[in-house]
Amino acid sequence: MNAGFSFNPMDPQLLADPYPIFQWMREEDPIHRSDLGFWVMTRHEDCRHVLIDKTFGQGDFVKNIQLFYDADFDVLAHPAYIWLSRVFVMQDPPTHTRLRGLVAGALSLKRIRAMEPRVRELARAMLARLADQPGTNFIETFAYRFPTLVMCDMLGLEEHEFSDELLTQLNLAIADTFPVFETRALCEEELALANRQMEFLTAFFDDLFERRRAHPRDDLTTALVQAREGDASLSSEELSTSVIGLFGAGFETTAHMIGNGMFLLGTHPDERAKLRADQSLAAAATEEIVRYESSLQATYRTALADTVVSGQSIAAGDRILTIVAAANRDKNVFDRPETFVIDPREEKPLTFGGGIHYCVGAELARLEGRVFLEELFTAFPDFEVDTQTARLRQAFLFRGFEHLAVRL
Ligand code: HEM
Repeated sequence: MNAGFSFNPMDPQLLADPYPIFQWMREEDPIHRSDLGFWVMTRHEDCRHVLIDKTFGQGDFVKNIQLFYDADFDVLAHPAYIWLSRVFVMQDPPTHTRLRGLVAGALSLKRIRAMEPRVRELARAMLARLADQPGTNFIETFAYRFPTLVMCDMLGLEEHEFSDELLTQLNLAIADTFPVFETRALCEEELALANRQMEFLTAFFDDLFERRRAHPRDDLTTALVQAREGDASLSSEELSTSVIGLFGAGFETTAHMIGNGMFLLGTHPDERAKLRADQSLAAAATEEIVRYESSLQATYRTALADTVVSGQSIAAGDRILTIVAAANRDKNVFDRPETFVIDPREEKPLTFGGGIHYCVGAELARLEGRVFLEELFTAFPDFEVDTQTARLRQAFLFRGFEHLAVRL
């Protein structure tokens, strides 16, 4: 790296191992101006400031996306970008407050705690099934499937309403659509695929809403459909967008938290032995997995007014990428930041963001991580991870593996 360095989310070196680049940026160029037209922040203090300070928000959606293409790009001609423009993580108050309020109740700490026995039962049954299929790709057979089934449970989808093939299609549809969150232009094929898959997701959930409208049940989907009927300010598009967003956010990052965790246990035998000897460390292990190798590397904001961050002037309308995965290894906050250590740490990682958009599913993700590790070490303490054949996905924002072989 040198003075001519410009952050590029497609850089193969960054995709293979971003951490040496983050370390250099934190030390040499912590408020970096990328040639791509946005600021990139890597220090904990600066990222946290941008995430929690109300001077920063989402701003003008179309302009933000055009930054990656050009000013003539017709953003809202694409179903996948139409969806992104409505999803509540992309909104500022008061729309954000109204839409977040719809789902926040279903994810309250009390509700999440009540889900633990069911989440445990799912993890136990799925691990037992996996033991009969040695050598399969753990990312597909467990890492994705487990949090997806938890989300199906949360939404009230019953087993007869989905098949294994349908779940695979839904997983794939989210994985093909979520690149619209990336901080870059998508190529024509990627965008066409994201558009097609968004239409598939919308049709699937609209059909589900129709079924719950006709035959209400005691589940979150029915509650949301009824909220729509009792509140003219909630459009059917907002309802469908929020549920697709919740469903996808509920497993896309969690799947890779589980995959990254498995890989880290495979590459850190001493830490693995510690956890095997003392399962009460499962919560601390989950926290360390999301700190050390966050499955969501970054998020972004727009300056809503002229402002200054750590002495750097930022103009109203400027876009800022806050790399939480870099903030998680800031030596000013974390002791031995570049080392994976399964011990409780005082400081929480910035993995789940901060401020009004703080991850509404953070407690569920933590529960899934802890329960998965407890069940894994109880039933299969001698599991093997093939770290040699592991293959990373080629994506900056959502970091994880596309292939990881595990033998229970
Ligand atoms: C390891 C797993 C997860 C990670 C790393 C993660 C990370 C994040 C981050 C960083 C944000 C803030 C984005 C921003 O400020 O721009 C966020 C927001 C959000 N997350 Fe998560 N998340 C995870 C799991 C989940 C789960 C399990 C759910 C749902 C059950 C979920 C649903 C959401 C939603 C709906 C938002 C938007 C909140 C808002 O805009 O107010 N996430 N997540």
